[in-house]
This record gives sequence, structure tokens and C-alpha cells, in this order.
Amino acid sequence: MLPSVRPGPRSLAEHERARQVTPGGVNSPARAFAKVGGGPPVVLREGRGSRVWDVDGYSYVDYLAGYGPLILGHAHPRVVEAVSRAAAQGPLLGTSSPGETELAERLQAAVPSMQLIRLLTTGTEAVMTALRLARGHTGRSRVVKFDGAYHGHSDPVLVRAGSGAASVGVPDSAGVTPATAAEVTSLPHNDLGAVKGFFDRCGDEVAAVLVEPVAGNMGLVDPEPGFLEGLRHLTAASGAVLIFDEVITGFRFHFGAVQDLLGVRPDLTCLGKIIGGGLPLAAVGGRREIMSGLAPEGRTYQAGTHAGNPLGVAAGLATLAALETAGVYEGLEEVASALAAGLTESAAAAGIPVTINRRGSMFTLFFGDGRVRDLDSAEAGDHRRFARFFRLLLDRGVLLAPSPYECWFVSTAHGWEDVEQTLASAEAAFARLAERGDE
Ligand SMILES: Cc1ncc(COP(=O)(O)O)c(C=O)c1O
Repeated sequence: MLPSVRPGPRSLAEHERARQVTPGGVNSPARAFAKVGGGPPVVLREGRGSRVWDVDGYSYVDYLAGYGPLILGHAHPRVVEAVSRAAAQGPLLGTSSPGETELAERLQAAVPSMQLIRLLTTGTEAVMTALRLARGHTGRSRVVKFDGAYHGHSDPVLVRAGSGAASVGVPDSAGVTPATAAEVTSLPHNDLGAVKGFFDRCGDEVAAVLVEPVAGNMGLVDPEPGFLEGLRHLTAASGAVLIFDEVITGFRFHFGAVQDLLGVRPDLTCLGKIIGGGLPLAAVGGRREIMSGLAPEGRTYQAGTHAGNPLGVAAGLATLAALETAGVYEGLEEVASALAAGLTESAAAAGIPVTINRRGSMFTLFFGDGRVRDLDSAEAGDHRRFARFFRLLLDRGVLLAPSPYECWFVSTAHGWEDVEQTLASAEAAFARLAERGDE
């Protein structure tokens, strides 16, 4: 690994301090630098617009963007103002408040498949609730998911199938019981044939098929033509519930969910990230007859002290209002496409093979020249090279998510100055990678 200048001494000291009280010194494993060569991560102090500052005072153009929620950038004035006002009015009221209904109405109008909506706190909860609802609705227990997808950290979605489509699921995490794993089958993403084969054998036992319609957790992977349509057809025919996990994709590409761009409507949709404007807020919604299975109307239980909390609702409403402004998504597209084009060009000039999968303001730069369409092809990338690229950019003031399986998120705060700095840093980084060969 190339020696890197950052993290600086204060980050190192802060991380050491955190390690004394927190496993690994981080409150979410994604924040560790394990996938980029290990060692302590930078510790951030502040974010404004397109930039973040670490505790040593180094600044970075930020494409991590809180792992996706910050589509308006850090500390957007409208969001800050709305949250401050809500905090002054009492950050938690304990019963229903009009803002919750207003947010649900706005989501319902923007995502027509969400006929009824329940607000929750995290994407993990949204998926957990959608699966419970699907099981309650169908009276079945099996769940189908796809390799390389991330759906939060509830037990059933931490399971990946062993070899063979019908094999019993094997947990990826200690603490997930074999009984839970046995109810989950993880199939290759974008492989409709594998799903058909599985449904031929046990379609009438499937409660739900859970999919990221545009995958964002094996890097960005678009659905292949017919994949989502095929899932829609198979689930409808067998009586299973089709769940789209749009925690990342909701409001990322247009004012609504990606399902309406792709033309496939699921039974249930999970939203999170952007709809909370950087605060913890999520939603599950879908067909009325399934959603009315939720307590207190129905018999499927879900609850939460902070569900639909006023601060998250205020941040979400302010974010949606800003996103509705004309030209916002066109501006995001312009900046992201310039970035992707510049990265492609400078990688080619340095003779470094890369593949960029991009949709709107979200993309992944894979180190390799093969097409990336599933977890296997994402895994075939040169992750050592990604780790070195990550460090080279970090030293040059550009922050990416510390993993080859994540995306770059462009926000409305990213401007041409950021693009210039990023592309100049990337050009230098690619040249350095080319110089140093594979060492
Ligand atoms: C597609 C997807 N679903 C669910 C989640 C879980 O959301 P949360 O981290 O808010 O629990 C994530 C988180 O990254 C995600 O990317």
C-alpha cells in the first residue's frame, strides 16, 4: 500500500480514543478503512456544501455524502432552518403531528405505488417491516434476495445462499440463526433464469422477492432488460410480494422512485436516506390491501419511539421542497456526467482499465474493463488498485466511500470548481498508479 499523508495526527488520536470505548472505533463497520488497506480512518469534524473537514483541518470534496442521503450537500440552509425550527418546537412529541401526514402525502403523490405509507426511522426497519408484512399477508415464510444487495442489518437479509439456487441459506454474520438462514435464498443478481428455476421448484412457498431495482451496494448495477419485469411476472403469478428496496434510489434520479423510470411497479417500496434529508427517517409503503395489514389496522406489528420523528420529517420536507425546484436533476446529471467523462478520459490516458456504471448523480468506478452486472463481475475488479486510488485521492482532498462496492454521490452543492479539483486529483492518481505498476 502507498504511504498516505492522511489521516493526520488528530484523526489518529481521535480514532485511538474511540477504540477505547467502541468496537473498532466506529459506530458502523462501513466507516472503517478495512476495504481500503486497513488502518485508522479519517475522523470528520464538519460538513458544508460539497465539502467536509477532518479534525486535522484538511478539507475534502465529498462524494461519500453520508452514504447517499445528502443530495443537497451538507448543512443546506433550508434543511438547517427547518430542523432548527422543529427542534425549537420540541424534537419529539409522542403522538401524531401534521408534518408526518404532509410528508406521507408528498411521498404518495410522487410514488404512485405507495398507496398507504408508514414512516419509520431507518432503512433497516423499512425492509424488516416490508418482509414481515409480506409474510403476514401471504402466510408464507421464504424470502428471495440477490447476492451483493444490502438491505440493512436485520437477520434475514444478512443471509447469502450457498452454492445452488435452492440450497439452504448460510448466514454472513455470526448470530443469525440457521433457522433464519434456512428461510432465505440469495440468487445471482440480474439472473432471471435462476429466479425462474427457483420459482419452478418452490414458488408457492415464497412470501417475498426483495430487490434493489438499481443496485447500489455491489457498486452501481442497473437492471438488465426484462429482469425486473420478470420478477414482477413471477411474483404476481405465484402470489408472492415484490418488494423494491429504494432506500438509496428513492428521489436520487428524479422526483420520485426509480420504479417509475423503469416502468415496473412493486407491491411494497422501502424508502430512506434522501427522504430524511440527512436525519434518521424512512418509509415503507405500497398496495393498500397489504399495507392495511399493519397494526393497529391489521395484525402485523411495527412500532417506534422515533418513527416519523419531527426533526426527520422537517428535514425530509425541506429536502423534497428543494428537489422539486425546476432544473435540479438536470444540474445533477450535468455535473455527474462531466465527472464520469473526465475520469474515463484520464484513466484511459494513463492506461488504467476502468468501467464506470452511472445513472444520474450516482456512479461507481470499477477497476477493470469487464462489464459489471452482478456481484461476481463486481468482485472481479482490482480492489487493491481501488484501495490505492482511494488513498491517493484522500491525500489530494477528495473523499470517496472507503469500499470498491460503494457509489460516488453527487449533490446539488457540487460545482465546477469541485469537478476541476476532483479531475485534477484523479489524473494525478491514475498517473501515479500507472507509474507504480501493481506494487
Ligand atoms: C439499499 C439499502 N437498503 C437498506 C439500507 C439500510 O438503511 P439504514 O442504514 O438506514 O438502516 C441501506 C443502507 O445503506 C441500503 O443501501
